[in-house]
Amino acid sequence: MTIGPPQAREQLLRRCGRRVRLGMVGGGADSVIGETHRVALRADGLCELVAGALSIVPEIAFETARMNLIPEDRIFTDFRAMAEGEGRRDDRIDAVVIATPPQTHFEIARAFLRQGIDVICEKPMTATAAEAAKLVSLVEASGRILVLTHCYTGYPMVRQAREMVRAGSIGRVTLIEAEFCAGDPGVAREPADRAKRHWRFRPESMGKAAILGEVGSHAHNIASYVTEAEIVSVSARLDTFAAGRDVYDNAYLTTSWDNGAVGRIWSSYVAIGNEHGLSFRIFGEDGALVWRQEEPELLWRQRLGRPASRLSRGLDELSRPSLEATRFRPGHPEGYALAFANLYKDYAHARLSELIGEDRSPYLEYLPDVRAGLAVMQVIEAAERSHNQRGAVELVIRPGA
Ligand SMILES: NC(=O)c1ccc[n+]([C@@H]2O[C@H](COP(=O)([O-])OP(=O)(O)OC[C@H]3O[C@@H](n4cnc5c(N)ncnc54)[C@H](O)[C@@H]3O)[C@@H](O)[C@H]2O)c1
Repeated sequence: MTIGPPQAREQLLRRCGRRVRLGMVGGGADSVIGETHRVALRADGLCELVAGALSIVPEIAFETARMNLIPEDRIFTDFRAMAEGEGRRDDRIDAVVIATPPQTHFEIARAFLRQGIDVICEKPMTATAAEAAKLVSLVEASGRILVLTHCYTGYPMVRQAREMVRAGSIGRVTLIEAEFCAGDPGVAREPADRAKRHWRFRPESMGKAAILGEVGSHAHNIASYVTEAEIVSVSARLDTFAAGRDVYDNAYLTTSWDNGAVGRIWSSYVAIGNEHGLSFRIFGEDGALVWRQEEPELLWRQRLGRPASRLSRGLDELSRPSLEATRFRPGHPEGYALAFANLYKDYAHARLSELIGEDRSPYLEYLPDVRAGLAVMQVIEAAERSHNQRGAVELVIRPGA
């Protein structure tokens, strides 16, 4: 950890003299996630949205862009034209935000990387592990950055958990439990009008096991992020419960990790009554850490034979990465939008550092990257194979292969 004192971060925008310029592909007014990105990227005043191909529907692309005061000559209806157009400008975007369905991510990322433009990409990173492996090569050859928006890693208490595992405060990690089990009406039931199904419930979009990329990827990633370990084998059971549904809506994965731990990842749309449902429990030989997305300001530390301690965001004795991800004093909830904004803050500080000729790498340390995206895609494909082979088939995965 080589980030200088907090004021070094705070000085970067002034020293650079301009905001980080972002373009967005997808995320139009017809999307689920687009507006969340726009709130997050503006939260700290470090980034501005200056270009976009915001929707597959041209009218919505124009309307959403104009609502965001994007100049007319930087509004596009095709991402390739946008990559080429931006690539020619002196005031080109620093990064493109990809907020389209996953099967389009690879082509969009490649088009912008070819122009030397960084990529901030929604999860799951690609449609297949083969695409993900290619993207690793493209990013590493380009020297550019790919940030994967596993937004929950931006929570200060998630970063705190990572630091505590790293510091050995729960001892050697033995059991890794993570779940993202939702059960609100929007996901638990099929709409009466099948034409209104979102692509994530249509097998022709991301396959029958799309749930593994849509929610399972967050559970996998957060467990991997906190423990800094990778899954090396998986055994899966996938089921469908909702009436009239053509894709799986519940997935249990049993996992082995490269640090010797074992665990489970549960993904669901039919945990009826759950509103969100992301959480992790990491057990070590000396204790455990427990965190729930719906109470994100709290991290519980359990110790053998002793009362559990409740750690809350913003207190001075927390780790530096946790405090650097904190804006407000303890007791003033920050929540989801600012956790998401921490990904943009870290990226912006990395880019501003680069623009003024300084080392960007310290600001990238807490961001999910292209290799994290590959690891998720490998596990998704292994889980599907395990399920299709009917039984507890252990599949060996080589991280980073
Ligand atoms: N980080 C999170 O917590 C989170 C939450 C929701 C969705 N997501 C992810 O975000 C991505 C988008 O999901 P969504 O639910 O918002 O999808 P969506 O279908 O609701 O919206 C997709 C957007 O992309 C546009 N689009 C599609 N193809 C395009 C193209 N070729 N060029 C330009 N625009 C195009 C659509 O018009 C729409 O604006 C997915 O990868 C999804 O998994 C992440």
